[in-house]
Amino acid sequence: MSAEAQQQQQRSGSRLVAVGTALPDKVLTNADFEVMMDTSDEWIRSRTGIAERRVGGTTTGLAVEAARRALERSGVAAESIGLVVTATQTPDDLCPSTAAGVQDALGLICAAFDLNAACAGFSYGLVVAHSMLLSGAATAALVVGVDRMTAATNYDDRSTAILFGDGAGAVVLTSEPDGDRGIRAWDTGTDGSHADILASPIRDGRITGVEMNGKVLFKHMVRYAVDSARAAVERAGLELDDVVAVLAHQANQRILDAVADRLGVDHDRVISIIEHTGNTSAASVPLALDAAVADGRVGPGDPILLLGFGGGLSWASTVAVWG
Ligand code: ACO
Repeated sequence: MSAEAQQQQQRSGSRLVAVGTALPDKVLTNADFEVMMDTSDEWIRSRTGIAERRVGGTTTGLAVEAARRALERSGVAAESIGLVVTATQTPDDLCPSTAAGVQDALGLICAAFDLNAACAGFSYGLVVAHSMLLSGAATAALVVGVDRMTAATNYDDRSTAILFGDGAGAVVLTSEPDGDRGIRAWDTGTDGSHADILASPIRDGRITGVEMNGKVLFKHMVRYAVDSARAAVERAGLELDDVVAVLAHQANQRILDAVADRLGVDHDRVISIIEHTGNTSAASVPLALDAAVADGRVGPGDPILLLGFGGGLSWASTVAVWG
């Protein structure tokens, strides 16, 4: 990135005003999996940190619920929202988009579209919405991360079936180029050469489930995530010590721990919600943010790092001052 582009990132802010989330009511525990397949609570917890996940609902229904909560909490008028970006790899339908469903359900008058960057989707959505706000395309935006991964899970494959849950999270972004809050810098990237280690194929029109070489994926993903996080923090003119919370994709606890170790930040600053949600793909970063805001670990004026990574392989990091 050129010095000029780096300066442009640092002085350009769009505020993250509020976050809202939605989880289905139904809980699928590790004990449920012990009945369904040859596995154990001990194996799942020790390998992934997951105890239970929420399952059910529809992608659009979860997206609408999360977006509605974020909008209510933001105090921003629905008429001011000029853009909805929804990140998902599990839409209910290919068309209309999930974002169009959010626009309609909330009665918005705005542009709306979906993007797919798998588990990095919400973080990509933040960068896209931020850039569109800066371009003048809108003055306020909703960015939603939503996935119904359990609709795309192969329950005959015990090594992946136990990982996933469903959920949604959304933030309201407002344009504020000269403020001291909001997005300060970002980093995005993709390495499309690894379809053999993580894919969710469609064969003969059917979604067949996640195919993953977990050990190899672990190695690549941690490296890309850590390099991206460091780049974004540096572009923001900050040190990792300045960041009060890392809201990273909740792939599994071992990845979160490895990211913390390699970034050199305390584990308690890398927010973990995976025990009760499982891996919710594009929803996991805003779900983690909502939890950290709710319990006071992230407050107004706090610098945070939002770090998405996943299939593609794709990754996106955003450094922002919350509130
Ligand atoms: N219960 C019990 N045993 C199991 C299970 C299960 N659910 N799944 C696999 N096993 C067994 C395997 O059969 C194998 O047995 P064997 O040694 O007798 O052949 C053994 O456990 C090891 O299997 P692996 O698939 O090699 O399991 P691994 O130790 O790699 O753990 C895991 C799997 C947790 C997914 C790990 O690879 C990992 O942490 N990978 C990181 C990637 C990741 O988490 N991706 C999430 C989705 S992608 C994303 O969000 C970016």
